[in-house]
Amino acid sequence: MSENDFERYFRSSYLFKDESKLFPEHVPAYLPFREEQIKRLIFFFRGLVEPENFVFYRAICYGPAGTGKTAVAKFFGKLIIEEAKKKGTNLRFIHINCHLERTYFMIVSKIAESLIAGIPKRGFSPKQYLAWILEYLEDENIKLLICLDEADYIIRNDPEILYDLTRSSELDSAKVRLNLLIILRDISILYNLDESVLSTLQRNLNQFNPYTYFEIKEILKERIGEAFLPNTVEEGVIDSIAMKAGVDRGGRGDARFALELIWRAGKIAEIENSRRVNIEHLRKAMSEIYPGITSEVFDTLLEEEKILLLSICRALREEKAAMVSTRSVKEYYDLICEKLKRKPKGYTQFWSYIQSLRNKNLINVSVMNEKRGRRGYISIDFPIDSLENKLLEYVKA
Ligand SMILES: Nc1ncnc2c1ncn2[C@@H]1O[C@H](COP(=O)(O)OP(=O)(O)OP(=O)(O)O)[C@@H](O)[C@H]1O
Ligand SMILES: [Mg+2]
Repeated sequence: MSENDFERYFRSSYLFKDESKLFPEHVPAYLPFREEQIKRLIFFFRGLVEPENFVFYRAICYGPAGTGKTAVAKFFGKLIIEEAKKKGTNLRFIHINCHLERTYFMIVSKIAESLIAGIPKRGFSPKQYLAWILEYLEDENIKLLICLDEADYIIRNDPEILYDLTRSSELDSAKVRLNLLIILRDISILYNLDESVLSTLQRNLNQFNPYTYFEIKEILKERIGEAFLPNTVEEGVIDSIAMKAGVDRGGRGDARFALELIWRAGKIAEIENSRRVNIEHLRKAMSEIYPGITSEVFDTLLEEEKILLLSICRALREEKAAMVSTRSVKEYYDLICEKLKRKPKGYTQFWSYIQSLRNKNLINVSVMNEKRGRRGYISIDFPIDSLENKLLEYVKA
């Protein structure tokens, strides 16, 4: 192959308008379902924008992974800087990721570097850096809001920084210029701290709950609108991701996971030259994230379970759907049994095999309340094409 053969792949995408809008570092201009958390931050910190106000402001945001804590903090950082400017207050916002900056020294030297030109990079104690920072803020009449993100790490490894940061505001009774926004996953980690620090910090709490099915779906639609060209993602794909991620459907309520899935599915669709992202692309994306089905798992499957799994693959493929009803699977199962000249199992046994496939984590089963009663739906997170081929090695149907 020559260079020219590859050239066409650099041409603009049929699917993405701007895929970087799905990257974790991107802060979207609109954060649905987080108005309340943003509003709370405004109430906690609004005194900061007043030029003559020098009290110690602090708050804690906490909640599980992917619930928008970092996105909200960065969004809020921009917002408050703008407001301060309008009032003639020189406010700075510095976001520190404590997973990357793991020690007291790394954090204060990072802050000092981003504020003060020509600061020595090493050879001084963290307390010295902190002293320089405070001096600089005073000399330049600056107020600073430090956001310590993923602070779980620093509390676990080097909590002294929190004593010094909170105490610096108490001792320096003249003007407090240093303020703190702390972000944590696990609020209980605060109890590792000294009583005095705890009581200083604990007052303003801002909780982030895991997202529901409905919320994930709306967030996805919003972000897909920014990242993909119109009508390039099938509706069923969005729904399936929300079913996986929504906390009320057994997911973790993690928006990062949902966005990663849609991005990966988009990349897979692109590589396959497809003009739309469909459910099979999503299954492939999931199988990249979750470990695949190993041969050992196949070997533990009973004959009947393999036939049933094959029926589910067929039903999903034929119906081009993310989920199929158990009733529909039963029809495919009966057909395959007929072809294999086997007597199909009755509904009770059929259902018990479904349960055992679910217990082996090969399928997902959700039961929904519908007009005509409760109905079971089945979905699979693995690419069904390769699963079906693998099954056909065992079942000649
Ligand atoms: N309400 C929302 N609207 C749009 N996108 C969101 C929303 N909440 C989160 N996201 C996106 O989901 C991803 C994860 O969010 P974020 O990084 O803020 O999570 P986090 O709570 O900081 O998680 P962690 O504890 O793992 O750091 C980001 O790409 C973010 O832009
Ligand atoms: Mg974060």
